[in-house]
Formats: sequence, C-alpha cells, structure tokens
Amino acid sequence: MSETKRKIVVTSALPYANGDIHIGHLVEYLQTDFWVRFQKMRGNECLYICADDTHGTPIMVRSRNEGITPEELIARSYTQHVKDFDDFQVKFDHYGSTNCDENRVLSEQIFKAMEVSGAITARIQPQLFCKKDQMFLPDRFVKGVCPKCAAENQYGDSCDVCGETYAAEELKDASCTLCGSKPITRDSEHLYFELEPSRDFLKEWIPTHTAPEMANKLLEWFDEPLRGWCISRDEPYFGFEIPGHPGKFFYVWVDAPIGYMGSLTEWCAETGESFDDWWQNKDAELYHFIGKDIVRFHSLFWPAMLKTAGFKTPDQVFVHGFLTVNGEKMSKSKGTFIKARTYLDHLEAQDLRFYYACKLNSTPDDMDLNMDDFIGRVNSDLVGKITNLVSRGAQMLHKRLDGDCGTMDEEGCKLCEEARSRSDKIAKHYEDRDFNKAMVEVRELADLANQYFDTAAPWKSIKSDPEVARSVMTSILNLFRILAIYLQPVLPEYSAKVAQLFNEEPYAWSDIEKKIESVPINKYAYLAQRVEVDAVTKMVEESRNSFAAPPAEAVAPEIEPVKETIDFETFSKMDLRVATVISAEAVEKADKLLRVMLDIGDGKPRQVFAGIKKYYDPEKLVGRQVVMVANLAPRKMRFGLSEGMIVAAGNPDGDLFVVSPDTGAIPGAGVK
Ligand code: MSP
Ligand code: ZN
Repeated sequence: MSETKRKIVVTSALPYANGDIHIGHLVEYLQTDFWVRFQKMRGNECLYICADDTHGTPIMVRSRNEGITPEELIARSYTQHVKDFDDFQVKFDHYGSTNCDENRVLSEQIFKAMEVSGAITARIQPQLFCKKDQMFLPDRFVKGVCPKCAAENQYGDSCDVCGETYAAEELKDASCTLCGSKPITRDSEHLYFELEPSRDFLKEWIPTHTAPEMANKLLEWFDEPLRGWCISRDEPYFGFEIPGHPGKFFYVWVDAPIGYMGSLTEWCAETGESFDDWWQNKDAELYHFIGKDIVRFHSLFWPAMLKTAGFKTPDQVFVHGFLTVNGEKMSKSKGTFIKARTYLDHLEAQDLRFYYACKLNSTPDDMDLNMDDFIGRVNSDLVGKITNLVSRGAQMLHKRLDGDCGTMDEEGCKLCEEARSRSDKIAKHYEDRDFNKAMVEVRELADLANQYFDTAAPWKSIKSDPEVARSVMTSILNLFRILAIYLQPVLPEYSAKVAQLFNEEPYAWSDIEKKIESVPINKYAYLAQRVEVDAVTKMVEESRNSFAAPPAEAVAPEIEPVKETIDFETFSKMDLRVATVISAEAVEKADKLLRVMLDIGDGKPRQVFAGIKKYYDPEKLVGRQVVMVANLAPRKMRFGLSEGMIVAAGNPDGDLFVVSPDTGAIPGAGVK
C-alpha cells in the first residue's frame, strides 16, 4: 500500500484536576490510546494530546478546604494522573495542563478575536451570592426546588426530574451547598458569546461532524434563536482573568478546550514542530474523543469559538457512552466506583484494556463492565485461547528442540495466509473504532490456531518425529505472532514482549507479512495470567471501603438543613395516595425519565413522568405500590402531560429511591 502518510491530532477530554482517574474515565483514555497506537502502526503521523483541566470553582473550593493553594492541588493531581495513565499503558505524545502560559495566551487571543467579530456581548445578570463564603455560586453549588415541577434537591442549572433548564436564581428555596445558608441575589455584569452569528455554520457543521444521535439532539435547539453562552465568572475564581475586563475570569469551559491547543503548542515547542502544520493545515486531521455528557461543549460552543476566531474546526467529535458496572451506574456504596489506582493494586492493566476492547464500539451507547464476564474473557480468551498458544508452543520448542524454529507445514502456511487475509478487515474495524469487531476476528483466528494445534498434537510426535513437531510449533508461533501484531494497539506491552521473543522491535502493521523460519527464538517470558475471582472481590471491597461514610460530623454538611416550618393546614393540602404501577417504560428522548401509569383505585389511570430511569428497570416497577402526590397541578412536558409525582428519597449523590408502603396498603389509600 502506498497511501500517503496521514497527519492526525487526537485528543481525549481533559480530566478534571480535582478528582482521581477511575475506570469510567478509562473507557475514553483506553479507546483513544487504541486508536492512536493503531494509526502509528499503520505508519501515520498521529499525536495523542491531552492535559489536566485545572480551573474552576470546584478546584478552588477543594484547595481551600484542604488548606493548600490551587496550584499545589493541581500539581499533586498532575503527578497522580500521569502515573495512572502510564501504568495503564496510555501513551500521550504530550500531557499538559490548562494552567500554563501557552493556554493563557491562546485563550486571550481567541477571546479577542471573538470580541472583534462582534460575538461578545455584555449583560447585567442577577446571580446568587453566598455572603458567608463571599463568592458567587456556580449552578452546581446551589440546590433548591425546581421552578417548573417543584422537585426538591435540584441543582441550579437543570432539573433531574423534569429536565427543565433554568437560571439558578429561579430555583425556589435555594441554599448554598457549601455552608447551607440562603444566598442573596446580586447583580453582576457578564460576558456572553453569542451563537446566533454562528447559526448557519453550526447547522451545517453539526450533522456532519458528530454521531447522528448526538447531532439530532443538538439541532433541536435550532428551532428557536440560539441563546448566548455566558463565558465569564466573577472573582474569586481559579482561572485566567479576561483581558480588558478586570475582576472577570474565563469560565473553565472556555479555556479547557483551548487546552487542547495549549498542550499541542507545548509539544511543538519541545519537538521543534509548527503548530500551524498540525492544527491549521487543511491536510491534517483533528479528532476529539469525548463522553456523551460533554457533547454540547464540543459540538456547539467549541466549533463556533474556533470558527469565529479563524481556527480550523475538528474533523470529527467521537462520542462514547458511559460505563456501567454489573449493569448499573458506578456506585461508591457497592464498591463499583473503582479508581484506576485501586484497580492497579489488584489486577493487571492489560486485562482491562483487553476487556474494554472486546466491548467497545463506535456508538454512544453505554458500555457494561460485568465482573464475571471480565474474568471469563480474560481467562478463556486472552489466556486460554491466545496466550496459551505461545506459552505451550515456545516452551516446548525450548525444552525439547533447543528453541530453534524450523519451517512451517502446509496447513500452517495456509492458516497464516488466512490470518493475513483478514488484515484489511481488522484494520477497518480499528479505523472505525469498532474495537469489539477487531477482537472477534482475532478470537476466531485463535480458535483456528488451537484446532490446528490440537489436531497436529506435537506433544505426541515430538519423540517419534521431532522435525514434524518442530514444524507444527513453528506454524503456531508464526500464527500467534500475527495475532500479537493485530493486538498491539490494545496490548502494547504484551506485544512488545512477543516481539522480543522473536528478536524483533515493536511491530508495524506491515510486519504481518514476515515469516519466522529457521531461526532461534528467545526464552518465553511471562505474558498474561488468569484473573482470580478473589482479586476482583478484594478490589471491590477496597473500593467500597475507600468511600465508606466518614464519622457523622464530617457528613453533616452534606445533609440539607431542615426547611422553614409549615402549619398543619398547608401540609394537609398535599394529597398523598398509595398507587399501583400499571405500566412503566423508558421515555426515548429523555435520559432520565420513565413514563409511569399509576392506578389510585378510582378507575382513572394517571400518567406521571419520573426521573428514575437510571435506577429502575421499568419492568420491575410494574405491580409495585408507590406513593403518589395526587393533587399536584398537571404540567405539560415535552413528552406529554404529567399528572402528579412519585415520592422518592434521595442521597447526597443525587441517586433516587422510590418510597413504597408496607404490604397491606390498598391503591387510593391516603398517606398520612
Ligand atoms: N474536564 C472536562 C472535560 C474538558 S475537555 C475540554 C470533563 N472532565 S471529566 O474528568 O469529568 O471527564 C473526562 C472524560 O471522561 C469525559 O469525556 C467524560 O465523558 C469521561 N467520563 C467520565 N466518567 C465516565 C464514565 N463513567 N464512563 C465513561 N466516560 C466517562 O468532563
Ligand atoms: Zn455558602
């Protein structure tokens, strides 16, 4: 193939510096790493660029609580993140930080260009301010009652229950999540990046540069005038001050994506390359790997910013889904919220790499890590089917035949040809990010190799006809070598050891063409071992313990203060009824909602939309008794009329638990 070398810049979303890397993050960093390593093996010039996302209120607040400076906090995270990625064999060409001069300069430059284009406007905005903490409160630092559906305990930007978005000042009964006190409203001038001027550009750009499921969601906004995006924050704020606007800072989501450019700039400085050659070059490609939660920032604001400031926009935004563990959202209390480091303390990085590759595809669907399946795949496929080929073959060759390869027999040659013939197909699966399909091909080839091995049974012929046995083992080793090349993007250290076995350098894709015959091989070095159930159990246990509830006094600030008292009359206005769930189904276009039909015994089923999709399998709710707020004014939602509410308890993570009466209650009974 004489294709020209592609020049490709690839990024993963920049992890926040205020948290540890966990196995959910790794869904992203591992798949990006697979893809980049694949491109490099194909001979393309491909850069993997990333950085820590260091700015914003949560980092400022956390460092304040720990009694250190934000700089100290982000330096500590940086070291940990780099080590975690390294130990997971994630290889960046450059890993920077958004808190660097290059990023400041670029942020200022892009902002000024946006200002010159006329897309920046200023508006006075009322905003919530905590007098005790002496700061304006970002949306996530305020909780209150949803102005639309009256759900309690909702953040200041959107309601988890009805999906409504609103301004924090519109929340009822708002309180500061840091200290629990009631914030005041204070006016402040803010800068907005207007999107209306980018409307035509975006309308055309979005459908062709991001997954269709995502594009359709984004385009729903285009039926109305596009709202401007508030890009400034008041001091105190850990970030970059906005040039020409003293006391105002760039909202973290402004300088975060610019961090991709900042980090690339640093790489260019280190290597003597030119930024424009990589970013501004129309023949170079630019791809962002991101999770589905941050599509708005990457496929709406970001291309608009770049376009407005005269920079090239990304070629594609690749969106992946979220990780679930054993079919559920990662949970601290269940021990399935597993940090990268905790995993590494118990298990091997390559096992998770292999498992994720077996599961990952190019859709934004969520991906499940099932612990039993994980153990099964590693033990039966990676170890049993694949690694055993070489461990048996190479060890026998050394023990009995001085470690010298002979020539392959006819069947062996045929199988190697079969393996090579799948090269284009496997490469296409990698290119398309259908890693699972690439792994299926490899597994099929391993099955063929095992059948051949078992039929030829060299352990039988080795005494009577050692040269026949040598030939079989030579074939097996050649076959295995091709598999190791196909697996190298996923298992780089593993494949590097295979290369050493054959006195070779890490592989290029084209190395599948080569034959290993009539040469000695090196001693077999350990490649992979079985996962013990016990190690997984311990890892889960340790994860659970690491989040176990600290002593009561430390938990106290998380508990919402009790609200103002109400009189009995006010209370009795609320009509709570026992209701039976007649049917429940997921609402397609809403991430969180179930459509539930409730029977309160009066023969008039009522439809309720409940934000519990994440926590309940709709089928399992059917027949269950719940408590319904029966006289809540019906409200029209995008999906239909909601005629009441289901009572549910929450925890500080925002998880919901539906409340049910003890057995014996009948539908329609009042709840007192
Ligand atoms: N700092 C922002 C990104 C800025 S990019 C200019 C951010 N950071 S994050 O640490 O919260 O997430 C980093 C990436 O990991 C995101 O793409 C996010 O979608 C992904 N994931 C975080 N948790 C995840 C799962 N549980 N499952 C899959 N991906 C997840 O967002
Ligand atoms: Zn406060």
